[in-house]
Amino acid sequence: MPFYHAVGEMPRKRHTVFRRPDGGLYAEELMGHEGFVGTSALLYHIHPPTTVKSARRLRELVWEADDGTSLRHRHFRTAQVRRGGSPTLDRIPILFNSDIGMLYTEPDQNDAHFYRNSQADECIYVVEGQGTLESVFGDLPFRQGDYVVLHRNILHRWRLDLSAGQAKFVVFESRGHIRIPTRYMNNVGQILEGAPYCERDIRRPMELKPHDERGDFPLLVKQYNAINELILDHHPFDVVGWDGYVWPYTFNADDFEPRAGRFHLPPPTHQTFEGRNFVICTFAPRMLDWDPEAVPLPYHHSNIQSEEVMFYAAGDYAARKGVGIGCITLHPSGLPHGPQPGAVERSLGATRTDELAVMWDTFGPLRLAALMRDIDRPEYAYSWNPDR
Ligand SMILES: [Fe+2]
Repeated sequence: MPFYHAVGEMPRKRHTVFRRPDGGLYAEELMGHEGFVGTSALLYHIHPPTTVKSARRLRELVWEADDGTSLRHRHFRTAQVRRGGSPTLDRIPILFNSDIGMLYTEPDQNDAHFYRNSQADECIYVVEGQGTLESVFGDLPFRQGDYVVLHRNILHRWRLDLSAGQAKFVVFESRGHIRIPTRYMNNVGQILEGAPYCERDIRRPMELKPHDERGDFPLLVKQYNAINELILDHHPFDVVGWDGYVWPYTFNADDFEPRAGRFHLPPPTHQTFEGRNFVICTFAPRMLDWDPEAVPLPYHHSNIQSEEVMFYAAGDYAARKGVGIGCITLHPSGLPHGPQPGAVERSLGATRTDELAVMWDTFGPLRLAALMRDIDRPEYAYSWNPDR
């Protein structure tokens, strides 16, 4: 919901007669958050979006937590997470709370079904892979380094380019809306001069190729913590035009303009998105603090009431012991963390970093998924202690 956008054909006035070439009426659909008072889009379908032939609850989606979680720093390697499957149905939960879940998937097949998450906004960070996200709003090409933002209820279908190598996605599912941070915007919603990105960096659907096909089309809808299957009697991507503030978009980490200072700047400098009780930040390759006396690494910090999760996407992480590309670390609230032994000395005089990382801070405690018990690397918790 960044700003107003319109694609395709629509009548001059809302809620007026709009006819198909065959003389029938297009079906108008308002997709509105919070009833009729939140952000919305108005779509024009060839066929009413309501002609469902059957509906059933297909499978439960329960994220089981490790109830024996002890308080310590965590380190996971996504290379040890189960691979393959569907980009929508085979997501492995890693950490979650009532505001947001972080999941990981390495899909190797394209979905036959159409998918809609009706209980959460999604933000998918494309670690590797490329393809097209098809949606009722039009197609969106995606590539490595993209954040693909899908507000709840947007019907879509992933089309992975399977010849371009293994796709790897970090998935955020958020109960509240995922937004451009309000502090980056003026009071009419324009992104401010000085923000780390602008409207031109937000890539959006630009055209529609409406499908006018009858048949049985399966829609899988995540709602009530379950996958529900609805069979629609026509192709759901039959929209000829739409406008409004709700649409899917991509933003690439390479388009984040990083900030640096004479001395170290804290993580809010890197903020990219916000949601209910969480932020998502991009640590992009950048110049480092330039004062001759500057320490270019973070100082030790205790993030009280904030859980800090880092996904290491690209670059050289030699400074952090045992951590490399594809790793996830969790530095929970209740414990200080900071540079590991020797890291500060090694960093002095450095002028730039090529690290690319996605950080996710939550303001409520996170629960560790039970599936992560087996791939947690317990030695990480003691990696600050040179005597162990
Ligand atoms: Fe930190």
